[in-house]
Amino acid sequence: MADPPPGLVIRAATSSDVPALCALANDPGYRWGTLRLPYQSPEQTARWFSELGVDDHLLVAVLDGEVVGNGGLHRQRGRRAHVAILGMGVRDAVRRRGIGAALLTALIDFADNWLGLKRLELTVFVDNQPAIALYERHGFVREGVLVAYAFRAGQFVDALAMGRVR
Ligand SMILES: CC(C)(COP(=O)(O)OP(=O)(O)OC[C@H]1O[C@@H](n2cnc3c(N)ncnc32)[C@H](O)[C@@H]1OP(=O)(O)O)[C@@H](O)C(=O)NCCC(=O)NCCS
Repeated sequence: MADPPPGLVIRAATSSDVPALCALANDPGYRWGTLRLPYQSPEQTARWFSELGVDDHLLVAVLDGEVVGNGGLHRQRGRRAHVAILGMGVRDAVRRRGIGAALLTALIDFADNWLGLKRLELTVFVDNQPAIALYERHGFVREGVLVAYAFRAGQFVDALAMGRVR
């Protein structure tokens, strides 16, 4: 697996990252792989950020002082308190440089070694081969297909449910 770029820092996201998180959400490739809508405003991103709670852990990847990716663990409650839903993405301009792998490694370490979670789960569009390959390299397996999971660029798209149980 590729080493992360020298100087890459993974840290907690803060409210001062909102403009950079908005820019990330507006990257066409990021939008294609996630559930973001086009034309996301900084105000919408700020509202989303302010609604994150104590069980939402949002990390950013920073390269040369710029936020180039984000990843979140969203821990569930009650009888699913052993589970977190995972989401992540990297800026279009810096893909395939090891940033996604570094973010996912940090999220898994957080989940396994600090939160003591048993199960991580996510959904990924069936045609998002880069993300599926990344998740499979980190121990996620395909658990099922969610038909017409989301609308994307004029079409309904299926998603894979993936999980990693330890
Ligand atoms: C999926 C994503 C996070 C990967 O980030 P990245 O920084 O480009 O990935 P990395 O460079 O760390 O690559 C790690 C591994 O992912 C896989 N991968 C990444 N890009 C790939 C590609 N274009 N084709 C095939 N495999 C790919 C490979 O297994 C790779 O390991 P390798 O380089 O040793 O072969 C990135 O493509 C992205 O942000 N996409 C848009 C948003 C998105 O789809 N998020 C996931 C939502 S479920």
